[in-house]
Amino acid sequence: MPRRRAGGSHAGRVALLHAIAHIELNAIDLAWDIVARFADQDLPHAFFDDWIAVAAEEAEHYALLSARLGDFGAAYGDLPAHDGLWEAAELTAHDLLTRLAVVPLVLEARGLDVTPDMILRLDRVGDPESANILRRIYEDEIGHVATGRRWFEEICALRGLPAVETWQRLIRDHFKGTLKPPFNDEARASAGFDARYYQPLAAMPGNP
Ligand SMILES: [Fe+2]
Ligand SMILES: [Fe+2]
Repeated sequence: MPRRRAGGSHAGRVALLHAIAHIELNAIDLAWDIVARFADQDLPHAFFDDWIAVAAEEAEHYALLSARLGDFGAAYGDLPAHDGLWEAAELTAHDLLTRLAVVPLVLEARGLDVTPDMILRLDRVGDPESANILRRIYEDEIGHVATGRRWFEEICALRGLPAVETWQRLIRDHFKGTLKPPFNDEARASAGFDARYYQPLAAMPGNP
């Protein structure tokens, strides 16, 4: 495994923390975007309260990582970063159900799949401070997936749509990537996100 991915070197650690800080910064924007972009729709007050609470947690995540980067003499903005999350925001700006299907229930759920391994690696290289920040993020992100799942199902119910089939159709039509196993079924289940949703769309070997 390359050192950069292992996070064992100083540069590798900074690269990892910077990449996650970038995701959290986008997550702040995405949470406020769902509040503002869909404000004209007839949604319960609780919908907006929930996403404002998510935005506040994403801001805490970003602040923790930003401070940790500072411990390494680095800062957010030192490294280039990809634009994938914001592209997902643009691709799903036309429809609230599509936004909920893709952002919390593909992208944030993917975070639940990969974070435990990052925590293990950070513990292994003797960086419990960074590992603990990721533990905190991981716990909160289960809540974000749960919020996305709850509102996805509620809005499907309001529109008289079957939730599982609708999610699968929206992902097939609007998500360009693949759903990569292995999935963290336990964390996803804690968010009420049942494998019946995503398992049938899992990328197969030879059919990525
Ligand atoms: Fe976050
Ligand atoms: Fe999140």
